[in-house]
Amino acid sequence: MSVVNLQRPREETPRSAEQTELHPELNRAHVRFIGLGKTYEGREGPVHALQGIDLAIQRGEVFGIIGRSGAGKSSLIRTINRLEQPSSGRVLIDQVDIGEFDENRLVELRRRIGMIFQHFNLMSAKTVWQNVELPLKVAGVPKLQREQKVRELLDLVGLRDKYKAYPAQLSGGQKQRVGIARALVHDPAILLCDEATSALDPETTQSILGLLREINQRLGLTIVLITHEMAVIREICDRVVVLEHGRVVEQGPVWQVFGDPQHEVSRTLLAPLQHVLPAELQERLQARPESSESAVVLRLQLTGSAADEPDLAALFSALGGRVRLLQGGVERIQGHALGQLLLSVSGSSLGAEELRQRAGRWAQQVEVLGYVA
Ligand SMILES: Nc1ncnc2c1ncn2[C@@H]1O[C@H](COP(=O)(O)OP(=O)(O)O)[C@@H](O)[C@H]1O
Ligand SMILES: [Mg+2]
Repeated sequence: MSVVNLQRPREETPRSAEQTELHPELNRAHVRFIGLGKTYEGREGPVHALQGIDLAIQRGEVFGIIGRSGAGKSSLIRTINRLEQPSSGRVLIDQVDIGEFDENRLVELRRRIGMIFQHFNLMSAKTVWQNVELPLKVAGVPKLQREQKVRELLDLVGLRDKYKAYPAQLSGGQKQRVGIARALVHDPAILLCDEATSALDPETTQSILGLLREINQRLGLTIVLITHEMAVIREICDRVVVLEHGRVVEQGPVWQVFGDPQHEVSRTLLAPLQHVLPAELQERLQARPESSESAVVLRLQLTGSAADEPDLAALFSALGGRVRLLQGGVERIQGHALGQLLLSVSGSSLGAEELRQRAGRWAQQVEVLGYVA
Protein backbone atom coordinates (compact mmCIF):
# COMPACT_ATOMS: atom_id res chain seq x y z
CA MET A 1 0.00 0.00 0.00
CA SER A 2 1.38 3.35 -0.92
CA VAL A 3 1.14 6.47 1.09
CA VAL A 4 -0.34 9.33 -0.85
CA ASN A 5 1.32 12.60 -0.21
CA LEU A 6 -1.40 15.20 -0.49
CA GLN A 7 1.04 18.03 -0.16
CA ARG A 8 2.54 18.82 -3.52
CA PRO A 9 6.22 19.73 -3.63
CA ARG A 10 6.69 23.45 -3.23
CA GLU A 11 8.47 24.07 -6.51
CA GLU A 12 5.47 22.77 -8.43
CA THR A 13 3.08 25.30 -6.99
CA PRO A 14 4.70 28.66 -6.54
CA ARG A 15 2.44 30.82 -4.43
CA SER A 16 2.20 34.49 -3.85
CA ALA A 17 0.84 35.95 -0.63
CA GLU A 18 -2.38 36.63 -2.52
CA GLN A 19 -3.02 32.95 -3.12
CA THR A 20 -4.78 30.07 -1.44
CA GLU A 21 -2.83 29.62 1.76
CA LEU A 22 -3.73 33.00 3.16
CA HIS A 23 -7.09 33.62 1.53
CA PRO A 24 -8.79 30.42 0.44
CA GLU A 25 -12.14 32.20 0.22
CA LEU A 26 -10.71 34.79 -2.17
CA ASN A 27 -9.44 32.15 -4.53
CA ARG A 28 -12.88 30.65 -4.77
CA ALA A 29 -14.45 34.04 -5.35
CA HIS A 30 -16.63 34.34 -8.41
CA VAL A 31 -15.95 38.05 -8.84
CA ARG A 32 -13.06 39.90 -7.28
CA PHE A 33 -12.20 43.58 -7.32
CA ILE A 34 -8.61 44.43 -6.48
CA GLY A 35 -7.68 48.05 -5.87
CA LEU A 36 -10.35 49.07 -8.35
CA GLY A 37 -10.62 52.72 -9.30
CA LYS A 38 -12.76 54.64 -11.77
CA THR A 39 -12.32 58.29 -12.63
CA TYR A 40 -14.61 60.11 -15.06
CA GLU A 41 -13.75 63.31 -16.83
CA GLY A 42 -16.59 65.51 -15.61
CA ARG A 43 -17.36 69.04 -16.83
CA GLU A 44 -15.78 70.50 -13.71
CA GLY A 45 -12.76 68.21 -13.69
CA PRO A 46 -12.17 64.59 -12.72
CA VAL A 47 -14.83 62.66 -10.77
CA HIS A 48 -13.42 59.88 -8.61
CA ALA A 49 -16.38 57.51 -8.80
CA LEU A 50 -14.53 54.49 -7.35
CA GLN A 51 -11.37 54.36 -5.27
CA GLY A 52 -9.42 51.38 -3.97
CA ILE A 53 -12.29 48.89 -4.03
CA ASP A 54 -11.29 45.46 -2.69
CA LEU A 55 -14.16 43.00 -2.62
CA ALA A 56 -14.93 39.36 -3.24
CA ILE A 57 -18.30 38.05 -4.38
CA GLN A 58 -18.78 34.33 -3.82
CA ARG A 59 -20.25 31.90 -6.31
CA GLY A 60 -23.97 31.41 -5.89
CA GLU A 61 -24.56 34.23 -3.46
CA VAL A 62 -26.92 37.16 -3.75
CA PHE A 63 -24.70 40.17 -3.14
CA GLY A 64 -26.21 43.58 -2.43
CA ILE A 65 -24.66 46.97 -3.12
CA ILE A 66 -26.11 49.96 -1.30
CA GLY A 67 -25.14 53.58 -0.91
CA ARG A 68 -26.45 57.07 -1.48
CA SER A 69 -27.10 58.37 -4.97
CA GLY A 70 -23.76 59.03 -6.69
CA ALA A 71 -21.83 56.69 -4.35
CA GLY A 72 -20.52 54.66 -7.30
CA LYS A 73 -22.86 51.64 -7.25
CA SER A 74 -23.65 51.59 -10.97
CA SER A 75 -20.04 52.28 -11.89
CA LEU A 76 -18.97 49.30 -9.78
CA ILE A 77 -21.52 46.81 -11.11
CA ARG A 78 -20.78 47.87 -14.70
CA THR A 79 -17.10 47.00 -14.37
CA ILE A 80 -18.16 43.34 -13.97
CA ASN A 81 -19.24 43.10 -17.60
CA ARG A 82 -16.92 45.90 -18.68
CA LEU A 83 -19.70 48.29 -19.68
CA GLU A 84 -17.39 50.51 -17.65
CA GLN A 85 -13.64 50.31 -18.07
CA PRO A 86 -11.75 50.68 -14.77
CA SER A 87 -9.17 53.48 -14.52
CA SER A 88 -7.02 51.43 -12.14
CA GLY A 89 -6.98 48.08 -10.41
CA ARG A 90 -8.36 44.77 -11.59
CA VAL A 91 -11.56 42.79 -11.94
CA LEU A 92 -11.21 39.01 -11.76
CA ILE A 93 -13.97 36.65 -12.82
CA ASP A 94 -13.29 33.04 -11.95
CA GLN A 95 -9.74 34.19 -11.15
CA VAL A 96 -9.28 35.53 -14.68
CA ASP A 97 -8.35 39.20 -15.12
CA ILE A 98 -10.84 40.61 -17.62
CA GLY A 99 -8.82 43.80 -18.09
CA GLU A 100 -6.89 42.46 -21.06
CA PHE A 101 -9.86 40.99 -22.93
CA ASP A 102 -10.15 41.88 -26.62
CA GLU A 103 -13.51 42.56 -28.29
CA ASN A 104 -14.21 38.88 -28.99
CA ARG A 105 -13.59 37.80 -25.45
CA LEU A 106 -15.67 40.71 -24.16
CA VAL A 107 -18.63 39.60 -26.27
CA GLU A 108 -18.21 36.11 -24.84
CA LEU A 109 -17.89 37.53 -21.30
CA ARG A 110 -21.07 39.59 -21.66
CA ARG A 111 -22.99 36.48 -22.68
CA ARG A 112 -21.95 34.83 -19.43
CA ILE A 113 -23.16 37.85 -17.49
CA GLY A 114 -26.81 38.83 -17.76
CA MET A 115 -28.05 42.27 -16.75
CA ILE A 116 -31.44 43.77 -15.94
CA PHE A 117 -32.28 47.44 -15.56
CA GLN A 118 -34.73 49.75 -13.84
CA HIS A 119 -36.45 50.74 -17.10
CA PHE A 120 -36.38 47.24 -18.60
CA ASN A 121 -34.81 48.40 -21.92
CA LEU A 122 -37.19 46.36 -24.07
CA MET A 123 -37.73 46.98 -27.77
CA SER A 124 -41.21 48.44 -28.08
CA ALA A 125 -41.75 47.33 -31.71
CA LYS A 126 -40.99 43.71 -30.89
CA THR A 127 -43.15 41.13 -29.13
CA VAL A 128 -42.22 39.44 -25.87
CA TRP A 129 -41.03 36.43 -27.86
CA GLN A 130 -38.92 38.55 -30.23
CA ASN A 131 -37.38 40.54 -27.37
CA VAL A 132 -36.17 37.37 -25.71
CA GLU A 133 -35.13 35.76 -28.98
CA LEU A 134 -33.12 38.71 -30.30
CA PRO A 135 -29.83 38.14 -28.43
CA LEU A 136 -29.92 34.50 -29.54
CA LYS A 137 -30.39 35.59 -33.16
CA VAL A 138 -27.52 38.04 -32.85
CA ALA A 139 -25.36 35.21 -31.50
CA GLY A 140 -26.26 33.08 -34.51
CA VAL A 141 -28.09 30.36 -32.59
CA PRO A 142 -30.11 28.07 -34.96
CA LYS A 143 -33.88 28.50 -35.08
CA LEU A 144 -34.87 25.28 -33.34
CA GLN A 145 -32.56 25.88 -30.43
CA ARG A 146 -33.78 29.46 -30.20
CA GLU A 147 -37.39 28.35 -30.01
CA GLN A 148 -36.64 25.82 -27.34
CA LYS A 149 -34.70 28.32 -25.24
CA VAL A 150 -37.26 31.12 -25.52
CA ARG A 151 -40.09 28.75 -24.62
CA GLU A 152 -38.18 27.41 -21.64
CA LEU A 153 -37.39 30.91 -20.35
CA LEU A 154 -40.90 32.29 -20.86
CA ASP A 155 -42.10 29.32 -18.79
CA LEU A 156 -39.52 30.07 -16.13
CA VAL A 157 -40.59 33.70 -15.76
CA GLY A 158 -44.30 32.85 -15.99
CA LEU A 159 -45.04 34.58 -19.31
CA ARG A 160 -45.93 31.61 -21.49
CA ASP A 161 -49.28 33.15 -22.42
CA LYS A 162 -47.90 36.59 -23.22
CA TYR A 163 -45.44 35.67 -25.96
CA LYS A 164 -47.34 37.60 -28.63
CA ALA A 165 -47.81 40.76 -26.55
CA TYR A 166 -45.91 43.99 -27.10
CA PRO A 167 -44.20 45.73 -24.16
CA ALA A 168 -46.85 48.48 -24.10
CA GLN A 169 -49.46 45.81 -23.32
CA LEU A 170 -47.57 44.57 -20.26
CA SER A 171 -47.47 45.66 -16.63
CA GLY A 172 -44.17 46.79 -15.10
CA GLY A 173 -43.67 43.44 -13.42
CA GLN A 174 -44.30 41.57 -16.67
CA LYS A 175 -41.83 43.82 -18.50
CA GLN A 176 -39.19 43.04 -15.93
CA ARG A 177 -39.94 39.33 -16.34
CA VAL A 178 -39.21 39.73 -20.04
CA GLY A 179 -36.00 41.54 -19.08
CA ILE A 180 -35.04 38.63 -16.84
CA ALA A 181 -35.81 36.03 -19.51
CA ARG A 182 -33.73 37.98 -22.02
CA ALA A 183 -30.84 38.25 -19.55
CA LEU A 184 -30.80 34.46 -19.15
CA VAL A 185 -30.74 33.40 -22.83
CA HIS A 186 -27.04 32.49 -22.82
CA ASP A 187 -27.22 30.60 -19.49
CA PRO A 188 -25.15 33.22 -17.68
CA ALA A 189 -23.28 32.45 -14.47
CA ILE A 190 -23.83 35.96 -13.11
CA LEU A 191 -26.88 38.21 -13.13
CA LEU A 192 -26.44 41.95 -12.55
CA CYS A 193 -29.46 43.93 -11.35
CA ASP A 194 -29.22 47.73 -11.27
CA GLU A 195 -32.29 49.08 -9.43
CA ALA A 196 -34.33 46.38 -11.16
CA THR A 197 -37.34 46.74 -8.87
CA SER A 198 -37.22 50.50 -8.33
CA ALA A 199 -39.96 51.23 -10.88
CA LEU A 200 -42.31 48.60 -9.44
CA ASP A 201 -44.95 48.72 -6.73
CA PRO A 202 -44.28 46.79 -3.50
CA GLU A 203 -46.39 43.77 -4.44
CA THR A 204 -44.77 43.40 -7.87
CA THR A 205 -41.36 43.92 -6.27
CA GLN A 206 -42.10 40.93 -4.03
CA SER A 207 -42.98 38.72 -6.98
CA ILE A 208 -39.84 39.75 -8.93
CA LEU A 209 -37.70 39.09 -5.84
CA GLY A 210 -39.30 35.70 -5.52
CA LEU A 211 -38.40 34.98 -9.13
CA LEU A 212 -34.80 36.15 -8.64
CA ARG A 213 -34.44 33.96 -5.59
CA GLU A 214 -35.84 30.99 -7.51
CA ILE A 215 -33.36 31.62 -10.32
CA ASN A 216 -30.53 31.95 -7.81
CA GLN A 217 -31.42 28.65 -6.19
CA ARG A 218 -32.52 26.62 -9.20
CA LEU A 219 -29.83 27.74 -11.62
CA GLY A 220 -27.13 28.45 -9.04
CA LEU A 221 -26.57 31.92 -10.46
CA THR A 222 -24.52 34.53 -8.65
CA ILE A 223 -26.65 37.67 -8.36
CA VAL A 224 -25.23 41.14 -7.82
CA LEU A 225 -27.95 43.59 -6.95
CA ILE A 226 -28.12 47.36 -6.48
CA THR A 227 -31.15 48.84 -4.79
CA HIS A 228 -32.13 51.80 -2.67
CA GLU A 229 -34.87 49.69 -1.09
CA MET A 230 -33.43 48.25 2.11
CA ALA A 231 -36.33 45.83 2.44
CA VAL A 232 -35.18 44.25 -0.85
CA ILE A 233 -31.71 43.65 0.56
CA ARG A 234 -33.16 42.23 3.76
CA GLU A 235 -35.43 39.96 1.75
CA ILE A 236 -33.03 38.47 -0.74
CA CYS A 237 -29.32 39.19 -0.16
CA ASP A 238 -26.74 37.08 1.62
CA ARG A 239 -24.13 39.80 1.99
CA VAL A 240 -24.11 43.52 1.45
CA VAL A 241 -21.54 46.24 0.85
CA VAL A 242 -22.08 49.90 1.64
CA LEU A 243 -20.39 52.42 -0.67
CA GLU A 244 -19.80 56.08 0.07
CA HIS A 245 -17.92 58.47 -2.20
CA GLY A 246 -16.62 55.54 -4.23
CA ARG A 247 -15.21 53.64 -1.26
CA VAL A 248 -16.30 50.60 0.74
CA VAL A 249 -17.32 51.81 4.18
CA GLU A 250 -18.89 48.61 5.47
CA GLN A 251 -19.57 45.07 4.33
CA GLY A 252 -20.77 41.80 5.82
CA PRO A 253 -23.63 39.33 6.06
CA VAL A 254 -26.96 41.14 5.84
CA TRP A 255 -28.03 40.11 9.35
CA GLN A 256 -24.85 41.65 10.74
CA VAL A 257 -24.86 44.92 8.83
CA PHE A 258 -28.59 45.39 9.34
CA GLY A 259 -28.52 44.34 12.99
CA ASP A 260 -25.52 46.38 14.03
CA PRO A 261 -24.53 48.90 11.35
CA GLN A 262 -21.14 50.42 12.12
CA HIS A 263 -20.98 53.32 9.72
CA GLU A 264 -23.00 56.51 9.81
CA VAL A 265 -24.00 56.07 6.16
CA SER A 266 -25.26 52.53 6.81
CA ARG A 267 -27.35 53.77 9.72
CA THR A 268 -28.85 56.53 7.62
CA LEU A 269 -29.66 54.16 4.77
CA LEU A 270 -31.21 51.65 7.15
CA ALA A 271 -33.26 54.22 9.06
CA PRO A 272 -36.44 53.49 7.03
CA LEU A 273 -36.48 49.96 8.47
CA GLN A 274 -36.58 51.23 12.03
CA HIS A 275 -39.69 51.23 14.12
CA VAL A 276 -41.06 54.71 14.53
CA LEU A 277 -42.52 56.33 17.59
CA PRO A 278 -46.28 56.69 17.69
CA ALA A 279 -47.10 60.03 16.01
CA GLU A 280 -48.63 61.51 19.13
CA LEU A 281 -45.40 60.84 21.06
CA GLN A 282 -43.15 62.00 18.23
CA GLU A 283 -44.87 65.40 18.39
CA ARG A 284 -44.20 65.76 22.08
CA LEU A 285 -40.57 64.66 21.81
CA GLN A 286 -38.05 67.29 22.98
CA ALA A 287 -34.30 67.49 22.53
CA ARG A 288 -33.79 68.54 26.19
CA PRO A 289 -35.57 67.49 29.39
CA GLU A 290 -38.16 70.03 30.46
CA SER A 291 -37.89 69.00 34.11
CA SER A 292 -36.49 66.24 36.27
CA GLU A 293 -39.85 64.51 35.77
CA SER A 294 -39.27 64.16 32.01
CA ALA A 295 -39.09 60.63 30.62
CA VAL A 296 -36.11 59.58 28.52
CA VAL A 297 -36.97 57.91 25.21
CA LEU A 298 -34.50 55.20 24.13
CA ARG A 299 -34.14 53.08 21.02
CA LEU A 300 -32.44 49.71 21.58
CA GLN A 301 -31.21 47.48 18.81
CA LEU A 302 -30.57 43.89 19.83
CA THR A 303 -28.90 41.06 17.94
CA GLY A 304 -27.83 37.51 18.72
CA SER A 305 -28.93 35.81 21.95
CA ALA A 306 -30.01 39.16 23.38
CA ALA A 307 -32.62 39.41 20.63
CA ASP A 308 -33.59 35.75 20.66
CA GLU A 309 -35.35 35.87 23.99
CA PRO A 310 -34.75 39.30 25.43
CA ASP A 311 -34.89 39.31 29.23
CA LEU A 312 -37.05 42.38 29.55
CA ALA A 313 -37.55 42.09 33.31
CA ALA A 314 -33.79 42.25 33.89
CA LEU A 315 -33.39 45.12 31.46
CA PHE A 316 -36.24 47.12 32.94
CA SER A 317 -35.06 46.66 36.50
CA ALA A 318 -31.51 47.70 35.57
CA LEU A 319 -32.86 50.94 34.14
CA GLY A 320 -34.88 51.66 37.29
CA GLY A 321 -37.94 53.84 37.52
CA ARG A 322 -40.98 53.27 35.31
CA VAL A 323 -40.13 51.71 31.97
CA ARG A 324 -42.75 51.67 29.24
CA LEU A 325 -42.61 49.80 25.96
CA LEU A 326 -43.60 52.22 23.20
CA GLN A 327 -42.90 50.13 20.15
CA GLY A 328 -40.88 47.06 19.29
CA GLY A 329 -40.50 43.62 17.86
CA VAL A 330 -38.18 40.79 16.95
CA GLU A 331 -37.66 39.68 13.35
CA ARG A 332 -35.38 37.15 11.74
CA ILE A 333 -32.86 37.72 8.95
CA GLN A 334 -31.00 34.66 7.69
CA GLY A 335 -31.93 32.86 10.88
CA HIS A 336 -30.54 35.59 13.13
CA ALA A 337 -32.85 37.40 15.51
CA LEU A 338 -32.88 41.19 15.33
CA GLY A 339 -34.84 43.04 17.95
CA GLN A 340 -35.83 46.65 18.31
CA LEU A 341 -37.31 48.30 21.38
CA LEU A 342 -38.49 51.85 21.86
CA LEU A 343 -38.75 52.57 25.57
CA SER A 344 -39.55 55.51 27.78
CA VAL A 345 -37.98 55.65 31.23
CA SER A 346 -39.25 58.03 33.89
CA GLY A 347 -38.50 58.46 37.57
CA SER A 348 -35.13 56.70 37.33
CA SER A 349 -32.22 57.91 39.40
CA LEU A 350 -30.03 57.54 36.31
CA GLY A 351 -29.37 60.28 33.76
CA ALA A 352 -29.86 59.74 30.04
CA GLU A 353 -26.21 58.86 29.41
CA GLU A 354 -26.18 56.37 32.30
CA LEU A 355 -29.39 54.82 31.01
CA ARG A 356 -27.83 54.51 27.59
CA GLN A 357 -24.82 52.71 29.03
CA ARG A 358 -26.89 50.38 31.21
CA ALA A 359 -29.11 49.44 28.28
CA GLY A 360 -25.92 48.78 26.32
CA ARG A 361 -25.44 45.60 28.37
CA TRP A 362 -28.45 44.14 26.56
CA ALA A 363 -28.38 45.93 23.25
CA GLN A 364 -25.76 46.38 20.53
CA GLN A 365 -26.90 49.92 19.91
CA VAL A 366 -28.71 52.33 22.17
CA GLU A 367 -29.80 55.77 21.12
CA VAL A 368 -31.36 58.52 23.20
CA LEU A 369 -34.14 59.84 20.97
CA GLY A 370 -35.20 62.64 23.32
CA TYR A 371 -37.46 63.46 26.24
CA VAL A 372 -41.14 63.73 26.90
CA ALA A 373 -42.67 65.71 29.75
N1 LIG B 1 -20.22 58.94 -17.66
C1 LIG B 1 -19.94 59.71 -16.62
N2 LIG B 1 -19.27 60.88 -16.76
C2 LIG B 1 -18.99 61.66 -15.70
N3 LIG B 1 -19.33 61.36 -14.43
C3 LIG B 1 -20.01 60.22 -14.22
C4 LIG B 1 -20.36 59.33 -15.29
N4 LIG B 1 -21.02 58.28 -14.77
C5 LIG B 1 -21.10 58.49 -13.44
N5 LIG B 1 -20.49 59.64 -13.10
C6 LIG B 1 -20.32 60.20 -11.74
O1 LIG B 1 -19.70 59.20 -10.95
C7 LIG B 1 -20.25 59.17 -9.63
C8 LIG B 1 -20.81 57.79 -9.36
O2 LIG B 1 -21.90 57.55 -10.21
P1 LIG B 1 -22.73 56.20 -10.20
O3 LIG B 1 -21.81 55.05 -10.28
O4 LIG B 1 -23.79 56.31 -11.24
O5 LIG B 1 -23.39 56.23 -8.73
P2 LIG B 1 -24.71 55.54 -8.15
O6 LIG B 1 -25.09 54.44 -9.09
O7 LIG B 1 -24.31 55.07 -6.79
O8 LIG B 1 -25.75 56.59 -8.05
C9 LIG B 1 -21.29 60.28 -9.60
O9 LIG B 1 -20.68 61.42 -9.08
C10 LIG B 1 -21.65 60.47 -11.04
O10 LIG B 1 -22.09 61.78 -11.29
MG1 LIG C 1 -26.87 54.05 -10.16
